[in-house]
Amino acid sequence: MPTVCVISIQSLAASRKADTAMNFPDWMSGIQQRIESSLDATLPANGIAPTRLHDAMRYSVLGGGKRIRPLLCHAAGSIFGADISVLDVPAMAVELMHAYSLVHDDLPCMDDDILRRGKPTCHVQFDETTALLVGDALQTLAFQTLSDRLTGMAPARQLDMLNLLAIASGSRGMAGGQAIDLAAVGQQLTLSELEFMHIHKTGALIRASVLLGAHCGEAMPDDLERLGHFANRIGLLFQVIDDILDTEASTSTLGKTAGKDAAQNKPTYVNILGVGEAKSKAAKLRQDAHDALAPFGEAANRLHELTDYIVERNF
Ligand code: IPE
Ligand code: IPE
Ligand code: MG
Ligand code: MG
Ligand code: MG
Repeated sequence: MPTVCVISIQSLAASRKADTAMNFPDWMSGIQQRIESSLDATLPANGIAPTRLHDAMRYSVLGGGKRIRPLLCHAAGSIFGADISVLDVPAMAVELMHAYSLVHDDLPCMDDDILRRGKPTCHVQFDETTALLVGDALQTLAFQTLSDRLTGMAPARQLDMLNLLAIASGSRGMAGGQAIDLAAVGQQLTLSELEFMHIHKTGALIRASVLLGAHCGEAMPDDLERLGHFANRIGLLFQVIDDILDTEASTSTLGKTAGKDAAQNKPTYVNILGVGEAKSKAAKLRQDAHDALAPFGEAANRLHELTDYIVERNF
């Protein structure tokens, strides 16, 4: 028995070393593959009743998306030595929550979009009622995943994680941000009102992704506070870049309809500040995010790389 234990610790250390030595694109595609197969196994299989709902859930979650939230979860957890298979659990939960938010965001009563991740949106491919229920079911599947798949974790920590995801997704987080977004159509928001909206609709779930990852390892309260500051910067940065891409990228590159924000009179950084100032704002947020990671040294390299990826991505 002791020999087995020593070997497993050594192989764990070796795999962590291999992980940090890997180049960023390879690491990213490795995590993307892990999340794809974990989600595939977690979602009810095609053919299980009610089949139309399950088909639509799988259609909306699998085979697309950058998986930036799972990547952030894994990168943050790796700073504190979290086990990669434990990290898969909150990584799935945040992606399920995000996928639900996209299905609802695309509905005719919200952004009324027909294209998502290069495919017809859920309500176009299926129907509006199904899309509504897909969102409901993905949201509860996120909590189900987090509540029954973290075996071995201290119950108090698991409860903290459930609470974190609930707050980030609800009226004080993503759903609240979406409410502000819809109420703001056609309005002239101030910069601070715009930031308040972005921090909620997009930033909250990005922050949860980072903090959930850290909760899977030995993060101390100070670490969580520093990471929270980092995550606030990249959450805002992510939506600033989304707003810029909406004006600058093509529909085929984005896999979603370009130019929708202007067409729908949405308040964005671009229409409040212009593209040039929106890009300066992004550059400042990027630098602030890197600075916030300084106390973690090289252990935070994956988060540094993801910060750059958020800015340099083209979709
Ligand atoms: C799009 O999110 C919606 C926003 C919060 C801006 P992503 O750009 O992460 O979408 P996917 O998951 O890669 O499709
Ligand atoms: C969506 O913001 C944010 C959430 C889904 C919570 P957007 O409406 O800007 O996202 P896209 O551009 O449709 O992906
Ligand atoms: Mg929207
Ligand atoms: Mg939208
Ligand atoms: Mg957008």
